[in-house]
Amino acid sequence: MIFVPASLLVTGGAGFIGSNFIHSYMAGNPGCRVTNLDCLTYAGNLKNLTALEGNPNYRFVKGDIGDAAVVARLLAEQCIDAVVHFAAESHVDRSITGPEIFVRTNVLGTQILLEESRKHWQSGVVADFRFLQISTDEVYGSLGDTGYFTEETPLAANSPYSASKAGADLLVRAYHETFGMPTLNTRCSNNYGPYHFPEKLIPLLIHNIINKKPLPVYGDGLNVRDWLHVRDHAVAIEAVLKQAAPGAVYNIGGNNEWKNIDIVNLVCDLLDGRLGRGAGENRTLITFVKDRPGHDRRYAIGASKLTSDLGWSPAYTFEQGIAETIDWYLANQEWVADVTSGAYLAYYHSQYGGGAL
Ligand code: NAD
Ligand code: DAU
Repeated sequence: MIFVPASLLVTGGAGFIGSNFIHSYMAGNPGCRVTNLDCLTYAGNLKNLTALEGNPNYRFVKGDIGDAAVVARLLAEQCIDAVVHFAAESHVDRSITGPEIFVRTNVLGTQILLEESRKHWQSGVVADFRFLQISTDEVYGSLGDTGYFTEETPLAANSPYSASKAGADLLVRAYHETFGMPTLNTRCSNNYGPYHFPEKLIPLLIHNIINKKPLPVYGDGLNVRDWLHVRDHAVAIEAVLKQAAPGAVYNIGGNNEWKNIDIVNLVCDLLDGRLGRGAGENRTLITFVKDRPGHDRRYAIGASKLTSDLGWSPAYTFEQGIAETIDWYLANQEWVADVTSGAYLAYYHSQYGGGAL
């Protein structure tokens, strides 16, 4: 049976994937109300969502998932029947230099959101309910040269970031097992596309190439990641939300493995022509640097369960997706300049006039 929520609570909707999801979901489901709860950390950018300002079905609330009172009030006031939980600290490098906020947001914040959701769901004010935890392939740890992660692969997180996501995934599982709460859990590979914060590999490369800055490649550059266009991820999330059985876990991936150095070379080459530079010129910016501690060697995600159960498969080829992404960054230099200068942080105050909820 298809579940069609009437009122969604999206957490972390001002970030990269959350904002792409809101655009995609609202375009396809114009009758659904969407409340975006985001506390606007450095990664939250309301400029990702300017096209929705004035839409009567869209509401932004500046608040923390760890604030039980705010969460409880929104669940009740907005008659929320589904929570799609993106809010997190998401950058592995930052989790190595400062793990505490990762535990606070990703583990404790998720537990508070789950607990308020449980009370709301058990109060019976909504006929049906879903809690969808957005997670990562990184919870499964690292692979050798062969094989891929399935939903049955044991969790073996290696970084403070992935450990905090694994902790949250287990809490989600526990709320299903203990309380029968209708939870869902997706685990996706590396996303790329518009609105990606330029601390992450692909937008960092594009930004640095444009500005002729060094391109830092960690270690030997032979670590492997699977890349999926963020809009394909958004469509997969919608399919899981509407069609998956409560308690289900789904992997999401692009069947698109790349060694980091090959991605770096590709982005360099695609930008040579677009920037009017000679063939191979951008590759001279490549700089091998000290490896990330505990750097997972290879991720490969098996998403066949999602395809066979729910009929999802990626619409983008990588060739099309990466070219479009590069062109998006070139056409949206103002967005990038705002992020790199920090100007985007003031946007909330100019639009919403301060800290009131
Ligand atoms: P992001 O860092 O771009 O965005 C995170 C958002 O969460 C920001 O808008 C931030 O302000 C908000 N946030 C952080 N702490 C909060 C709190 N306490 N309360 C409310 N809002 C808070 O992250 P992303 O790359 O869009 O990732 C979104 C989710 O998807 C994360 O849960 C991440 O683990 C998961 N994920 C990401 C990828 C990827 O490739 N980026 C892949 C798989 C899974
Ligand atoms: O796999 C899903 C995960 O993908 C998500 O859960 C995370 O939230 C998301 O940040 C991403 O994690 P990664 O660590 O894989 O992404 P990042 O873009 O930081 O790095 C991609 C690869 O590139 C990784 O092997 C490290 C390497 N790298 C990264 C940066 C930023 C470099 O070689 N140089 C760099 O400057």
